[in-house]
Amino acid sequence: MKRVAILISGGGTNMVALVQSMRGDNPARATLVLSNNPDAVGLDRAATLGVPTAVVDHRAFGRDRQAFEAALLGPLQAANPDIICLAGFMRILTPGVIDRFAGRILNIHPSLLPLYPGLDTYARALAAGDREAGCTVHEVTADLDAGPILGQARVAIEPGDTADTLAARVLYQEHRLYPAVLRRFAEGDRTPLYL
Ligand code: GAR
Repeated sequence: MKRVAILISGGGTNMVALVQSMRGDNPARATLVLSNNPDAVGLDRAATLGVPTAVVDHRAFGRDRQAFEAALLGPLQAANPDIICLAGFMRILTPGVIDRFAGRILNIHPSLLPLYPGLDTYARALAAGDREAGCTVHEVTADLDAGPILGQARVAIEPGDTADTLAARVLYQEHRLYPAVLRRFAEGDRTPLYL
């Protein structure tokens, strides 16, 4: 069994989709949900699902990113994960953490990378007049939202779409894509999946 740690900052709906997928003959199991935000709703959801949780509040470290990451490594190394899934985790990780788990950290991003790394992806896709949007699961490297792509799902942009309506349809696809990519990854398959 592959041990999977999931890092969240908020609602954790992707985390729930991942946890619920890791059952039966799936070769992965969720062993830790870790949040930088003590108020993350996802922490309650994880507890309800029976997954151990931990919190490292980034605000306690001010601007000292190194100290925050050193604290993050405590529960992470104790959980000794084979795979780390970032799922709405809104802190940038530095090589101090990434190198320790090189090639074993995944992230989901709400755009068709390489389009729109960073924030406000839906508004940027709408402002550009794009006809489609989507989400990407990729390996995490030191370059923000730029590691090798492991999967993408596309969503048509409809007339009258707002950032909110688009976000809701993309999120639905995220919940299909991320579990499917994680399962393949846990089986050793890194070829991109396109839904
Ligand atoms: C998701 O849409 C995810 O793609 C996005 O945050 C949301 C988290 O939702 N992630 C990023 O923007 C990463 N930069 P969730 O907490 O309900 O899974």
